[in-house]
Amino acid sequence: MTVSLSPSQLERPLAPTYRIDRSFEWNWQHGPHFEGPWPAVPETPMKSFFGFPVRSRFGIPPSILPTSRWVAAYSRLGFDILSYKTVRSVPRFCGAPPNWAYLDEASLAASMADANLPILATDRAPKSASQVTTGGSFGLPTITPDVWEQDLQLARAAVGAGQVFIASVVGTAAPDVSEDAFVQDFADLGGRVARLGAQIIDIDLSCPNVGKAERMLYMNVPLCERITRAVRKAATGCPILLKIGAIPDEERLIALMKAVAGVADGLVLINAPGRRIINADGTPYFGKGREFAGVTGAAIKPLSLACVKQGVRLIDRLKLPLQVVACGGIATTADIREFIAAGACAAVSATAAMFNPYMAVDLKAAVPEI
Ligand SMILES: Cc1cc2nc3c(=O)[nH]c(=O)nc-3n(C[C@H](O)[C@H](O)[C@H](O)COP(=O)(O)O)c2cc1C
Repeated sequence: MTVSLSPSQLERPLAPTYRIDRSFEWNWQHGPHFEGPWPAVPETPMKSFFGFPVRSRFGIPPSILPTSRWVAAYSRLGFDILSYKTVRSVPRFCGAPPNWAYLDEASLAASMADANLPILATDRAPKSASQVTTGGSFGLPTITPDVWEQDLQLARAAVGAGQVFIASVVGTAAPDVSEDAFVQDFADLGGRVARLGAQIIDIDLSCPNVGKAERMLYMNVPLCERITRAVRKAATGCPILLKIGAIPDEERLIALMKAVAGVADGLVLINAPGRRIINADGTPYFGKGREFAGVTGAAIKPLSLACVKQGVRLIDRLKLPLQVVACGGIATTADIREFIAAGACAAVSATAAMFNPYMAVDLKAAVPEI
């Protein structure tokens, strides 16, 4: 594998396509914010991603592509795995702004070592796109289904040759929603996005900012198995990925893998770990009731890399029909190479790809084999 990285590829300035000074709704309506120039995307050889031909095994997880316009822009920027932001069967408003925070480096490092410690929000942005770590509190907002259903088809149509389109679904938990209805919600959504053109379905079992039943799903092995089997039945023929968080207890991770292997096709490791984000006076930065937020970007890379290595090791040892898609803190071409070398079948990036829209062309210029 030949790699030559110029310093400029590692030190892209911040060029966020999502305006963090505007609301989620503004970004949904007007985004992405990209002033160009549009890059010439290097030609790269075809590879396979869950049976689909792709020009690279790199792209975007469900996150920063909430509409077909965003999908079209990132397709043109050379990202080949394109995931539409997670949808629900019911509309859900975004949590009130602020929804983003830059994070103080010292408390961030301490909290990555000890999850009980809070992280201080700061006004200071890092200097380069590859250094960005953020706290995010959105709450998995979704527009009404009739709107996203139409837009999802436009998004599918915007995906080019050598690219693949993933739709992500989440059931909506509430005190009056039974477990059966919750499982059925996932299944209905899975069937619906498959009929609308999703090539692969991502089941979100792990959002850090929503109701307890949704957030902790990946820790509940029997419920994950039920959901995965129900989506499998509803969306025959579509490969299924499960998006989960870090599971510290290896026995529980093994139980989950054994329960879903052969039903799901892959695991996406990992979703944003939840942490308490605070102001200098100790009050919750995102407001009361939103104490915990997802930490995304560069600082979670050691955790996600450890999870990917652990996942690959267990799959090999247990000979399970599963693959691992790496996600979390992947910010440079060197990071992508490292995760692929660790055994991931592909890598995806949300935060860094938002701050550096040239990430895919940087990769393709340096490592066309990925
Ligand atoms: C703005 C934003 C929105 C996100 N929305 C979703 C979502 O809708 N569904 C989901 O499964 N994960 C969502 N995520 C989590 C990402 O898919 C990913 O797991 C996380 O950001 C870690 O990757 P990163 O370090 O490359 O950002 C979101 C992340 C960001 C930054």
